[in-house]
Amino acid sequence: MHTALPSDAGSRNTAVVGLQWGDEGKGKIVDLLTARHDVIVRYNGGANAGHTVTVGGERYALHLIPSGILYPDKTCVIGNGVVVDPEKLLEEIANLRRRGIEVGGNLVVSNRAHLVLPYHKEQDAAYEEFLAARSGLGEASAAIGTTRRGIGPAYADKVRRSTAVRVGDLLHPERLRARLEIACGLRAAEMEALGVKAPPPDPEALAARFAAVGRTLAPHVADTVYLLHGFVREGRSVLFEGANASLLDIDHGTYPFVTSSNCSSLGIPAGTGLPGRLVGRVVGIMKAYSTRVGGGPFPTELLDEIGSRIRERGREYGTTTGRPRRCGWLDLVAVRYAAMLCGADALACTLLDVLSGLDELRLCVKYRRGRETTERFLPDAEDLEGWEPVYEVLPGWREELAGTADRKSLPANAQRYLARIEEVVGVPIELVGVGPERTQTLSAAGRGI
Ligand code: IMP
Repeated sequence: MHTALPSDAGSRNTAVVGLQWGDEGKGKIVDLLTARHDVIVRYNGGANAGHTVTVGGERYALHLIPSGILYPDKTCVIGNGVVVDPEKLLEEIANLRRRGIEVGGNLVVSNRAHLVLPYHKEQDAAYEEFLAARSGLGEASAAIGTTRRGIGPAYADKVRRSTAVRVGDLLHPERLRARLEIACGLRAAEMEALGVKAPPPDPEALAARFAAVGRTLAPHVADTVYLLHGFVREGRSVLFEGANASLLDIDHGTYPFVTSSNCSSLGIPAGTGLPGRLVGRVVGIMKAYSTRVGGGPFPTELLDEIGSRIRERGREYGTTTGRPRRCGWLDLVAVRYAAMLCGADALACTLLDVLSGLDELRLCVKYRRGRETTERFLPDAEDLEGWEPVYEVLPGWREELAGTADRKSLPANAQRYLARIEEVVGVPIELVGVGPERTQTLSAAGRGI
């Protein structure tokens, strides 16, 4: 029976969301905050995400499973808003087990999450190649630069409905086969119409292959909406782990150079089945500079040696695809927009150590086009093109930051840089990252939180 939620419902919960184009170091902050929460929930995206957590010198790269899995007493939930590549999920489970991490009842996957199947990945790559080939000479590529993990085609099937296959279907071989027959039948017809020479997907073979996957995954599959509501009513605290990031949000990012889910905090209610008032405190993660991987506008991009220096010092290569990331100065117009969208209560500024050794630093505080200026972000790739950043120049610092004890011990110019970010964004910075280890995160009180 349903009873109204208590008035303080949500007060124990926290959401961690990226405020840029991804790779802000969310994994590390989620890992730190996990200690204070009982349940860790993914609500969007799929294996396009890559969270890296370093614990005791061991580096774990996770794509689908929340990094909370590294704590034995937490429950990790993959919510209905996620698109699950079930073979990748099994692979991730096996890798964790091999390294001595227990994965049992502590991992629950929504029966309503949609599946990423092999043909989604093939389609993702085929679309990208089609778009790249269509770009004229000298024109920017129309390709999105996706991770080719099948994310867009899987969400497209979800919205199309008739061709979708969900995690719950894996547990019912007959249902699975019937669904795959429709999905593959339509694909075969499309491929023929497009003159694609490759053999169409075979529903029988896929049904057998994925029914077997379903048998292994079965103990982890549940109705996570009832499960999460039950946890909340028992007084358990929930940490929502955003994947990808706000400027890649399908509705609010730099469309069409975005991913196919709502990755800002706005995706949490729909992607978990928990109402918005249960989202709780929102911590926005931003790095001390900007990066982007894939296509799309990037007003503060640096194509010079400062950009390369940031890439090398920050190890800015994709966790999922290994691609070098595009690097640039911190764009506070973009961060302020994302903080507004997500309702950020606090910021975590990561990778500040990467900026050590630069004579001066630039902060983009507005955009200019001809004589016109704006402090507003333009969440449309074509509208954003042509606007140039207006920078404030701040002095840099020489000192390496890795051994800093607390925020007050940072070099004066690093403190000034952080203070200016807080002023422009209008949200306090609660945590500062100065290295990859758990202990290299500074709060006002000292190391760690
Ligand atoms: P997709 O999500 O694979 O469809 O890729 C769409 C766009 O989002 C591409 O520009 C990707 O590089 C980018 N993207 C997706 N996930 C992430 C992420 O976790 N970090 C950074 N970029 C991402």
